[in-house]
Amino acid sequence: MTPEERTRLAGLASEILRENDRGTYTVPTKGLYPFQWNWDSCLTAIGFAALDEDRAWLEMETLFEHQWPDGMVPHIVFHQQDDGYFPGPEVWQTGRPVPTSGITQPPVAGFAARRIFDRSPDKTRFTERVRGLVRKIDRWHDFLYSARDPQGEGLAAIIHPWEAGRDNSIDWDDPFERVPTEGIAPYQRRDVNHADPAHRPTKEQYDRYLWLLEHFRRHGWNNAILHDLSPFRVVDPGFNAILIRSCADLAELAQALGELEIARSNRQRAEKGLSAIERLWSDSHGQYLCLDRVTSKPIDSASVGGVLAVFAAVPENRAQAIGNRIRALGSRCRYLLPSHDPADPRFDAKRYWRGPAWLIVNYMIADGLAAVGGAEMAESIRASSLALIKKGGFAEYYDPITGEACGGGRFTWTAAMVLELLNGGEAPERTLA
Ligand code: GLC
Repeated sequence: MTPEERTRLAGLASEILRENDRGTYTVPTKGLYPFQWNWDSCLTAIGFAALDEDRAWLEMETLFEHQWPDGMVPHIVFHQQDDGYFPGPEVWQTGRPVPTSGITQPPVAGFAARRIFDRSPDKTRFTERVRGLVRKIDRWHDFLYSARDPQGEGLAAIIHPWEAGRDNSIDWDDPFERVPTEGIAPYQRRDVNHADPAHRPTKEQYDRYLWLLEHFRRHGWNNAILHDLSPFRVVDPGFNAILIRSCADLAELAQALGELEIARSNRQRAEKGLSAIERLWSDSHGQYLCLDRVTSKPIDSASVGGVLAVFAAVPENRAQAIGNRIRALGSRCRYLLPSHDPADPRFDAKRYWRGPAWLIVNYMIADGLAAVGGAEMAESIRASSLALIKKGGFAEYYDPITGEACGGGRFTWTAAMVLELLNGGEAPERTLA
């Protein structure tokens, strides 16, 4: 790419961040997602840091202002009224001072905070603000390893597909069979007014998303009981890898700030998580798989969630096998990385998390690979990501076969990832013992 082209792309990415900036938080995109989303904000903060570090910290601080008393950080904060999105606050009814949803999302905050702080040219200026965040992130990790891991297995379960961030992944098809649809209140979707319905989840899936929501609402959003009460309890390698990575990164950050107890407990969480995630490895698939915590059986679905496991410091032989897996996936499509294996008959190139490529996932996988000697593969993933941008613009996701832009446009975290890619997206050495 020529220097002029890099400058042009960086300019476009910055424009999108500014356009979706609501002052103290950023919306993922206008129309389709008019509120603050949890992992979108944390990944966006990394992009913002390249333009304005103060604004980057503010993005995360705003999110964490809405942390629940039990430590959960909700997946959406409904900062203002907007009828363009369903289900809105009147459906969730979580009773929070500023309305929020009642479930969480991949805990990428520890990773994001460390990355931004490591690069900060003026650390002393931000130290106390970062310390405040570190304590809140620690409480969130504590929540996940208790409320979502009541038996102390070292792996947190998600109780709703939206918690994985991969809403309609093929991973959820089998466990979803157990989720009923009877009795849900009539509703009208809004997402299909903003994006092509063929790129979005189906009605059957939406019915089940809502059944779970109403089930949790009936139980007063009491996280002490929701895990055991949910017919949907899945241990997702992607979610857990992000959590493990965030624990390891939070430990480093806490250590640097002299928060020694937080450093110790997060190091311990990461170590326990790393040994526990091995239970999700599948030799036959050559990657990690989801585990259905209700049946204790692995879920036969080779999605990108199991490839994303490399974002945590998994053993070198696993990382190598994942490299091979990516090579195989790459031979079946033009652009890396499909969110599901194109060889699987259930693959759907344009439907959200059932096939399309997502830049945030590419970024995390490339980062994980680069840290274990997979620099070449990481580079191919980054090159593919930029090729998608050049072809389809700053879309929500892309068809990995044609490169066609799908879902919403002018997407915030896609823009943030482009800034990262243009910066080299370097991964510091892993420091976990
Ligand atoms: C979709 C994605 C989720 C994301 C949200 C906002 O629901 O599946 O991961 O956080 O949109 O961008």
